[in-house]
Amino acid sequence: MTGGLGYIGSHTVVELLNGGHDVVVYDDLSNCDLLVLESINQITNRSVKFYEGDVRNKDLLTEVFKKQNIDVVIHFAGLKSLRESVQNPLSYYDNNVNGAVNLLDVMQKSRTKKIIFSSSASVYGNPKFLPITEEHPLEPTNPYANTKKLIEEIMRDIVDADEEWKVIFLRYFNPIGAHSTGLIGENPKGLPNNLVPYIAKVASGEIPFLPVYGSNYSTPDGTGIRDYIHVVDVAAGHLAALNYFLNQSENPAIFNLGSGKGVSVLEMIAAFEIASGEEINFEIVSPRPGDVAKCYADNAKACSILDWHPQYDLSDMCLSTWLFTKQYR
Ligand code: WQD
Repeated sequence: MTGGLGYIGSHTVVELLNGGHDVVVYDDLSNCDLLVLESINQITNRSVKFYEGDVRNKDLLTEVFKKQNIDVVIHFAGLKSLRESVQNPLSYYDNNVNGAVNLLDVMQKSRTKKIIFSSSASVYGNPKFLPITEEHPLEPTNPYANTKKLIEEIMRDIVDADEEWKVIFLRYFNPIGAHSTGLIGENPKGLPNNLVPYIAKVASGEIPFLPVYGSNYSTPDGTGIRDYIHVVDVAAGHLAALNYFLNQSENPAIFNLGSGKGVSVLEMIAAFEIASGEEINFEIVSPRPGDVAKCYADNAKACSILDWHPQYDLSDMCLSTWLFTKQYR
């Protein structure tokens, strides 16, 4: 698993270990802490083989595939800040696209030809219809989302060239929340880009108030609506995808991992206040460039074909975030 110590990666490692799988983690630690390895061990009472490295380091990657008998790769490693990708697109094409090409080349040479790719709902761009199905056009509106679309296309071409390759794209909507132990969660360094980690830092007193980007959208309360999905549900989606390889009928197979429900910024603030018992100070400011009013998933395909069903609701997502925040403030 590349990027296996990151936010979604670490929760997925826990699900796979608890599901009886052996896991090898390859992570460059650029956006996470080695302590996560210890937390995973504490939660599962199982250890993982860990290699520190960048997916662009072909020699090291080749060595790992020589030493470990890898059946399937789950590819999380990559940069993921939408705003940063606009400011520094080249680093996103280098890290995300070159990184993926490098990984796929080493896999090809090691004859490991099964991969689950951590894609994103941001490949859809501005919704043409809602809820968004996997058939929605792909019209990314920023370099980050473009890298995800490009990597999907590269993997599609590889499958066309060699049918031995088995590929699954999981397109995440807005993963939030943390493991019930509070030992792992989303802990961005500095000012968070995303709504819920930002709200959590306001609730803990680390940041004085939350800027609400716009209140004149065509939504019931005027604020942006998104599809928030518990990170443990997203992790379980990877376990379900692994099982899908056993009788894969679509290749590449594409699945939206979302709750199928839309929640506005003000609704999220209210839910977090109930979960934390803390007041969230906020200020309405001008809309964030590139933001859309509404975006939420049609998750019927993942539910029916993967037999994957989100287990957690908004209150679980807020409560688990708050528990994790309190542990690390
Ligand atoms: C959600 C809503 C904002 C922050 C992200 C990125 C990327 C992707 C998940 C992987 C919007 C509002 C936010 C704040 C606010 N991950 N907001 N104040 O916009 O869906 O984008 O989706 O691909 O991380 O594409 O998520 O959490 O940034 O914003 O009012 O301080 O909260 O306007 O309506 P988004 P987000």
